[in-house]
Amino acid sequence: MQQFGVIGLSVMGKNLALNVRNHGFSVSGFSIDKPEVDAFAKYEDDKLKPCYTWEEFVNSLEKPRKILIQIMAGDPVDQTLQKLLPLLDKGDILIDGGNSNYHDTNRRYHEMEKHGIHFIGMGVSGGEEGALNGPALMPGGDEEAYKKVAPILEAIAAKNKEGQPCVSYMGPEGAGHYVKMVHNGIEYGIMQEFSEVYNLLRDVARKSDDEMSKIFDEWNHGLVEAYLSEITSKVLAQKDDLTKDHVIDHILNVASYKGTGNWMLEDGVALGAPVTVIGEAVMARFMSKQAHMAVKKGIKPITFEENSDLPDNLVDEFGKTLQLAQAVAYAQGFQQLTMAAEAYNWDLRFKSIAQNWEAGCIIRSAMLKDIENAYSDGKKPMNLFQDEYFRNLAEKNLPSLRKSVEFATKVGVPTPTLSAALNYLESIFNPNLPANMIQGQRDYFGAHTYLRNDREGTFHTEWYEEK
Ligand code: 6PG
Repeated sequence: MQQFGVIGLSVMGKNLALNVRNHGFSVSGFSIDKPEVDAFAKYEDDKLKPCYTWEEFVNSLEKPRKILIQIMAGDPVDQTLQKLLPLLDKGDILIDGGNSNYHDTNRRYHEMEKHGIHFIGMGVSGGEEGALNGPALMPGGDEEAYKKVAPILEAIAAKNKEGQPCVSYMGPEGAGHYVKMVHNGIEYGIMQEFSEVYNLLRDVARKSDDEMSKIFDEWNHGLVEAYLSEITSKVLAQKDDLTKDHVIDHILNVASYKGTGNWMLEDGVALGAPVTVIGEAVMARFMSKQAHMAVKKGIKPITFEENSDLPDNLVDEFGKTLQLAQAVAYAQGFQQLTMAAEAYNWDLRFKSIAQNWEAGCIIRSAMLKDIENAYSDGKKPMNLFQDEYFRNLAEKNLPSLRKSVEFATKVGVPTPTLSAALNYLESIFNPNLPANMIQGQRDYFGAHTYLRNDREGTFHTEWYEEK
């Protein structure tokens, strides 16, 4: 009998199955797409079994069955559950490893519970390479069921610098997919921040692709030690197959998306979470398409004057800017997680979440260790910048962030997420935000009432109207 089963054998499913097998567990693989099973069958051995029917697959697994569903999110997952249900036994464990919407995972968790089946919604990050050699895994659902699959998941997950596996129980119901959704929102935010700093280096500091590649590589070994620094450097260095140029200069500047970052924003709005960097990152992807269409239609660009008055240490200022802006993206993600935990009554484990992201995933960086520390020893900061390390970082790097936005404004380079990060930091602990004016206006036109800063109670003013 096989110890683990995988449904869906396209690259992610196949690589995860191979990863399980490579760690000494026996695994069965099944797909409704026969050529995928044929390709999988090439790896067949005493620990790896290709299956061509639902029955053959389910019957090959030891009980309680542990089945990872690694297919396209949405309807296909519901269809797979309907196919599986009559073949399963009470106590079996299903894991959805796709990028499912957490609302769907909440629903599926409760539907499966009625049939005595444990359902684990699990975020998987790290792409194809991660799936094979160590992904970051974010499982949520029934904790007892998680414990039964933990030995396999811990074996296949990426390991952080201390050798701990990047997988642990995230929380009940759809919490695992919720955490993955926030991971992806942060991913959108940080990717856009990197893109803006690239834009500043290119159009303000006038650096060449190779120079920029070196700068990001240096940051990766210092100020911003992060997977996204590493790949940004590599993307900049890559030569084109079709021309003599660098490929980056021929990639069309229109950003695509499958939308998981957008979902974070939707829920952030529902919760009232000020996730401005994520919002601007999502909008920037929309904007890239609109701008492209405008250019195609021949709409004349607005040009700005060249700025000749640049300081010598500009690149260093940009590095510190990126370091702080990255911290803001994480802070906003953790802020939304904190609000979601309260609103959905989930015991989310922030320290584990930070630790889970330290290796294997797209947003992995050295800073996640500092975030883990901020949530260690029972500390529960309402906001990451309450923590001493992040407060000091903000105080140290804020002048650089201000300068970067200032130079960008002078030259006419848009910095939606860097500006959002700056405004967030200028706002978050500010006792003098002008919301008193909003309240005055609301009370003026709608008698919506307001609170006062000098006494308790709800107040309304009979506003003076000019005759
Ligand atoms: C990961 C990624 C991955 C995501 C891609 C594409 O953690 O490995 O988040 O799950 O699907 O990054 O996302 P977009 O197409 O929305 O950019």
